[in-house]
Amino acid sequence: MPDLLPTRRHVLAGLSAAALPVMASTPVLAASGPSLRALAAEKGILFGSALSAGTMEPAYLDIVKAECGVIVPENEFKVYVIATQPDRYNFAPGDTIAGFARDNGMKLRGHTLLWNKAEFMPKWLLNIDFGANPAREAERYLRDYIKRVCTHYGDQVFSWDVVNETIDPQTGDIRDTPFTRALGFDCIRIAFEAAREYAPKAQLVYNDYMSWERGNETHRKGVLKLLETLRAKNVPIDGFGIQSHIGNDGHIKEAQNDQWRAFIDAAVGMDYKLLITEFDVNDKDLPTDTAVRDAGVAAAAKDYLDLMFSYKQLDQFLCWGMSDNHSWLQGWTPRADKTPQRPTPYDAQYRPKPLREAIAAALKAAPKR
Ligand code: G3I
Repeated sequence: MPDLLPTRRHVLAGLSAAALPVMASTPVLAASGPSLRALAAEKGILFGSALSAGTMEPAYLDIVKAECGVIVPENEFKVYVIATQPDRYNFAPGDTIAGFARDNGMKLRGHTLLWNKAEFMPKWLLNIDFGANPAREAERYLRDYIKRVCTHYGDQVFSWDVVNETIDPQTGDIRDTPFTRALGFDCIRIAFEAAREYAPKAQLVYNDYMSWERGNETHRKGVLKLLETLRAKNVPIDGFGIQSHIGNDGHIKEAQNDQWRAFIDAAVGMDYKLLITEFDVNDKDLPTDTAVRDAGVAAAAKDYLDLMFSYKQLDQFLCWGMSDNHSWLQGWTPRADKTPQRPTPYDAQYRPKPLREAIAAALKAAPKR
């Protein structure tokens, strides 16, 4: 199988069908042999995917069941779903995903208790008036929300993205939200402390989307500063979730491997466990030709995963969706040629793609942890 996977450098140097005679003429490979879950488990890695309540048709679920050992609700545990109104809690969509995980013997990750980004807070929360003593009231609200969500799902959630994306990629500073306005950095500390209190057995994770491409330097610096501060203040946190939406902003050709390694080295040097929480490959800057594009995506993935799996601190690997038709990238960052993106291991007809083979190859090559 590795013979079918050119390196990223090989693919991206040319990016013409002529430069890729093998890949361009290679038919789609069936996902025969061991599942990704089994290949990952051999190396001590837990493999899985995001799953959304809106995309639970049987053919898709067959793939999820065949391949995944862990799932994470794509949107259903977010505050804008759970708390559409103040003091009203809607767990029904999240319960659908949690029930599917339980019925199929899969582990469940939680995403996310505090998405500290104004854009993804419900309007009422964005405009909340924390009253005469904003710090006290903001802390009361945050602790109460985390208590309700954590106790609702109990020990089923073995790993929580406690705080998501609190660093502004442009400035490297903590984002401006109602919580940071009332509490400053303390809102991050409070979120982790409340999660430890109400989900005492769960792994607690900070999750963000800084990436290995050029253009992410300020974001990486800000996240590292945050990870250092969390350790310096003895905040209860176990892991660092690296979302891994690679090809971010169409910079698939611009990986900064050395800077990326230095960044990860610094995180593991502070004793953080590593997780790939939301893997996919944005193919915006690859050509229209499907075979060439799939080869570029597969090669970028193989390079990235080889690097990431070389860290034995990494023991969870989740894709952000298993098939192209269910990828957020279709709506969020459409291609200029208007063809659908091909960022996930299976195509829209649920056929495995070269990306699945690249993932399998990277798992086979990974050292055991
Ligand atoms: O369900 C409603 C539907 O009823 C309505 O008609 C439609 C109209 O816009 O919206 C639907 O909700 C959308 C939802 O996805 C479900 O498809 C929201 O608008 C849309 O904002 C939401 O996008 C999600 C996004 O996070 C924001 O929450 C994406 O699915 C999800 O993949 C994405 O996931 C994030 C991670 O949480 C954090 N890291 C980055 C990642 C990708 O952006």
